This record gives sequence, C-alpha cells and structure tokens, in this order.
Amino acid sequence: MTATTSIHGMWSTRFAFILAATGSAVGLGNIWKFPYIAGENGGGAFVLVYILCVSAIGIPIMMAEILIGRRGRQSPINTMRTLAHEESRHGFWQMIGWGGMIAGFLIISYYSVIAGWAIAYAFRALGGAFTSLNGETAGDLFGALLGDPERLLAWHTIFMVMTTIVISRGVRSGLEQAVRVLMPALFVLLLLLVGYALTSGKFMAGLEFLFLPDFGALSAGGVVTAMGHAFFTLSLGMGAIMMYGSYLPADASIARSTLIIALMDTMVALLAGMAIFPIVFANGLEPGAGPGLVFLTLPIAFGNMPGGLLFGTLFFVLLVFAAWTSAISLIEPAVAWLVENQGLQRVRASVYVGIVAWLLGIVTIMSFSHWAFSFDFAGEEKKNGVFDLLDILTANFMLPLGGMAMALFAGWFMARASTRDELAIGEGSAYRLWRVLIRYVAPLAVALVFLNAIGLI
Ligand code: PHE
Repeated sequence: MTATTSIHGMWSTRFAFILAATGSAVGLGNIWKFPYIAGENGGGAFVLVYILCVSAIGIPIMMAEILIGRRGRQSPINTMRTLAHEESRHGFWQMIGWGGMIAGFLIISYYSVIAGWAIAYAFRALGGAFTSLNGETAGDLFGALLGDPERLLAWHTIFMVMTTIVISRGVRSGLEQAVRVLMPALFVLLLLLVGYALTSGKFMAGLEFLFLPDFGALSAGGVVTAMGHAFFTLSLGMGAIMMYGSYLPADASIARSTLIIALMDTMVALLAGMAIFPIVFANGLEPGAGPGLVFLTLPIAFGNMPGGLLFGTLFFVLLVFAAWTSAISLIEPAVAWLVENQGLQRVRASVYVGIVAWLLGIVTIMSFSHWAFSFDFAGEEKKNGVFDLLDILTANFMLPLGGMAMALFAGWFMARASTRDELAIGEGSAYRLWRVLIRYVAPLAVALVFLNAIGLI
C-alpha cells in the first residue's frame, strides 16, 4: 500500500480540494477561450458537443485522474510509476506523467501571456480607457496591445513572477481562501454582464447562436476542438488534477467533488458566452474574431454601463485571479517532481520551472506580431502562428491523448478492487456506470473523434 499522505502537504478538507480544483478548472479557458472557439466554430452545435464531452468523457476521466492521484500521492510521473508497479504493469505508464509535464510547460507558456492581456486590461479599465468604446475603437485598443511585444513581455513577466511566488510557498497556503472569495465574486460579475447583455445587446441573437445547434456549421476539426476544450477547461489529461488528487484526504468523496467542479466550470463558461455574444451581434463584431473576442466585447459593455469603471476593473482583476489559480496547477506537477526526484527545495524548483515557462512564453508573444503566420485548421484561418500551433497541439491532442491513457489505465490496467475501494461509491449502479464510461465510452469517443478528423471514418 502507498502512503496515506503526500510529502508536499494535504488539503485540510474535501471542501478545500473542491475549491482548489475549481480554481484550477475555472480560468481563461472558460472566459477567454470558450467564447472565441465557440464563435469560430459556429456556436450551438459546438457548444452541444462540448457539453456532451464534458459529461460523457470529462467527468469519468476526472474521477479516474483524482483516484489515481490519491492512490499514488506523488507527482504524476512517480504516481504512475508507483501504481503501475503496484498493479504489476509495465513502467511505460509513467509516460502519462512525462507527457503531462511537457504539456503543462507548453500550456503555461501561452497561458501566462494571455493572463498578461487581462492584467493590461485591468489597468486600462481603471484608467477609463473603455469609456464610450464601440466595435471599432475596441479593436484599435486591442491591436495596440498585441503589436507591442515589449509591453506583452512586461505583463507576461509579472504574471509568471506572481505564479512562481505562490507555487514556491506550496499550493495550500492562500489558495483555499483566495478561491473561496474570488469564485463567487467572478460569478456575480458575470451575472451582471449577462444582465447588461439582456438590456443592451441583441440578447436573443446571442442565445440562439450559443444554444441553437446548426450541425452544418461544425466541421470534423471543430469536433476535435470541442472535445479538446472539454479536457482543457476541466484541467484534465496532463496531471494537474492528478496532483491535486494526491493531496485529497482519504475519506473524501471523489464522485461528488467531481460533479460539483464540472458543474461550476460549465456554468461559468456558459455565462461568459451569454454575456459576450449579445454584445458581438449588437456591435457588428465577428463571432469568429479569434483570441481577442473577450477583449473586444466586454470593454464595450463596461464602457457604456453605469459604474463601468468599477465593474470593468473588478472583472479583469478577477479574471487575472482566475488565471492565476489555474496557472499554479499547470506547473505544480513539474515542481513536485523536481522536489521528489532531484532533491531540490521547493522554492528553487519553483524558480527553475518559472524561468523555463517564462522563456517559452516569448515565442507566444512574438507570434502576435513579428513572427505571425497563418495556416488553416478545421476550416478556420489561424493567424497567430506558433501560439495557435501550441494551443492546438496541447488542447486538441496532448490532453485528450493523456486523458485517454488515464482512462485505459484506470479501466483496464487497475484491478477492479483498486478503483472500487478508491472511489468508495459501493458496487452499485453508480460504480458500474463509471466503469462502462471509463473502459468503453471515454476511450472510444476520443479515438472516434480523431479518426473522424483525419478522414478515416
Ligand atoms: N482549466 C484551465 C482553464 O480553463 C486551464 C488548465 C488546463 C489548467 C490544464 C490546468 C491544466 O483556464
């Protein structure tokens, strides 16, 4: 039997775990990425596929990832090695940990740059730059930021320093309290924005775009993107949730926690979509405007609503915090591994990881100006070179493949008794349903989406 606690510390309660995992899940993925990829892929049908993927693939895989983490109690690499050994399986299963760690580095490298945009926008909001913005002036404001690599580098640096500081102190200190206050606040502000969209935007057009499926508008590549996003938004497939699971007390319910986390994550994304698309249509903007969508739309709302200065500043500050609590989880597996295997102190490990991520981020910064190039993916023109490539490689391929490998491991290569004891939901229909989903539905769905995309079926 493996350890009952982690050397890196433990969550104090199940609720603390839910807060931390929700902090990881809710981030730029929900508010920045979901609306813009939904916009690029035609709306309703994309949203439907995304929700299906969260329910049938994301939720069972999240349960698997947490249970694996809790059983292994170490960084994903060592957890996978330990469990593979315990279940008398081949050591190559630790590749899940390695692949996840690499994915984590690649994701944080661009995630931090986008979080930098949010910091920049918090200051712009405070400085009154949103006053009476319209579609065109909002575009100019955003374009000026993207075309200025030095500015982007400054914000990226600040965000990476913030992330490194928190992670060097251990994920527990501060995180629980921060998420407890920030999440509800973010929720309230999103509701306020939906309220604004309801009165001032083309609300029905926005709702129809988001919720009325038009399958003609969804390509096979769009299905891959929707599935990839289910992994990205739930922080699945790269070991972040496995890591957080390793700090989970033994008696906490994995199934119930997972349902709560997935529900909150989905609600935040849908609220963001409901706030943004009415503004898109009311201001003659393009739903497929790309990664700038949130930064082109919400400032218009803030610039034209009473109290917009306050709410706008608050919103972007909260977005930075949401990104912060996600960024931490992206590099926690690498930091924990350095502590476990290289005998580094946590602070030093954090600094090394932070520096590598910071350097990688420069590629993303340049891809919005000097190094920009275009290519086609899923019938969409992607204009931001390496940034788009990194995003597609990680979210659409690495995370689903990592998640599929975890599903196969938990479903086929762990003894039934192991997963049953860890989930502790008895042997009734709930456990049997999970087992069907994890053995058949989730891996097959991932495989079918890929086969479909490369034209084999
Ligand atoms: N889930 C986070 C978001 O939606 C991003 C993330 C992905 C975090 C993978 C950790 C691991 O913003």
